[in-house]
Amino acid sequence: MTDPILRVEGLKTHFTTERGVVKAVDGVDFEIPRGGILGMVGESGSGKSVTGLSILRLLGTPSAKIVGGRIVFDGEELLAKSEREMRAIRGARISMVFQNAMTSLDAFFTIGDLLVEVIRLHQRVTRKEAVERAVRALERVHIPEPARRLKNYPHELSGGQRQRVVIALALACEPDLLIADEPTTALDATVQKQIIELLLELNAELGTAILMVTHDFGVVAKLCRTVAVMYAGRIVERGDMETVLSAPRHPYTQALMRSVPRLRAEGAGGNGEDPRRARLFEIGGAPPVPIELGVGCAFAPRCVRATEDCRSADPPTAGFGGSHQAVCHLYAENGREMQHAGT
Ligand SMILES: Nc1ncnc2c1ncn2[C@@H]1O[C@H](COP(=O)(O)OP(=O)(O)OP(=O)(O)O)[C@@H](O)[C@H]1O
Ligand SMILES: [Mg+2]
Repeated sequence: MTDPILRVEGLKTHFTTERGVVKAVDGVDFEIPRGGILGMVGESGSGKSVTGLSILRLLGTPSAKIVGGRIVFDGEELLAKSEREMRAIRGARISMVFQNAMTSLDAFFTIGDLLVEVIRLHQRVTRKEAVERAVRALERVHIPEPARRLKNYPHELSGGQRQRVVIALALACEPDLLIADEPTTALDATVQKQIIELLLELNAELGTAILMVTHDFGVVAKLCRTVAVMYAGRIVERGDMETVLSAPRHPYTQALMRSVPRLRAEGAGGNGEDPRRARLFEIGGAPPVPIELGVGCAFAPRCVRATEDCRSADPPTAGFGGSHQAVCHLYAENGREMQHAGT
């Protein structure tokens, strides 16, 4: 086994606010093999974007601090790097498609200006060569007539094409790792599918590893080989996609999966309901604001299977064979289901 391209260990990113310390990411571990695709899924506020931004050290506000952990990229500790060293890595070796990137493409620059700028920032090439590379970058994401498109402004493109341009920008320097934060969320279902297919194709063609961040289990199911489910700043379940899809263990993962109509329609956890009638999130209660979370499992207040233990002690990590793990009081460390009185 070769080294993974990215290994995150015990990552903690906290915000100091007037209301207290927001533990947005609170002890997260995962790794992505070279060329691999990991899906990170969870509801709004679970800490997905903060995890991605921490990897690139792009948390600008002074209230944000990485208070613990390691981020090892291609064998090197990113947390030990200077800002100057990080600048050489961002966009060149690790790229990010930011949440809402599509709407934030700078309206006053042409697609060509944007691409040439990012290429020349990281690669010593002439303007002419940079333009040629820009054309290739657009070809790669299947923008028709790429040379002509370079002269267009972002608002002259459709939503799907804009998102392709965002991906072309992120991959212009052929990074080893792409962090894609909700890259399909604002798109309709057909375009969403095309973007997922594009990401899979680019992953195969360029060997770019992908950290796919989304609240949509359906997107993760189609794209990712492995999955990490986040809740309140922690990973509560992880494993191979197929294993987790066929036998989700954490009640939160089960609820997330039940809430995706497409997964139901395709059979995983399906029960023959009309998928069109399914609401996207039907988990009762609201996700917690991770301020001074008390003891016990953070999901307990919303969990239909919660017991006294869940409210009073931190949940243990249970292994179910291979890389499949869940952090939940319902299971013993060897994965055996516990018999709780009253459940
Ligand atoms: N600058 C900040 N100051 C204080 N708290 C913050 C700040 N940025 C994020 N948070 C908090 O950190 C937590 C995690 O936020 P994050 O943006 O990572 O969530 P997310 O999983 O990406 O959600 P979404 O699906 O809505 O994008 C949230 O509770 C959020 O309110
Ligand atoms: Mg986010």
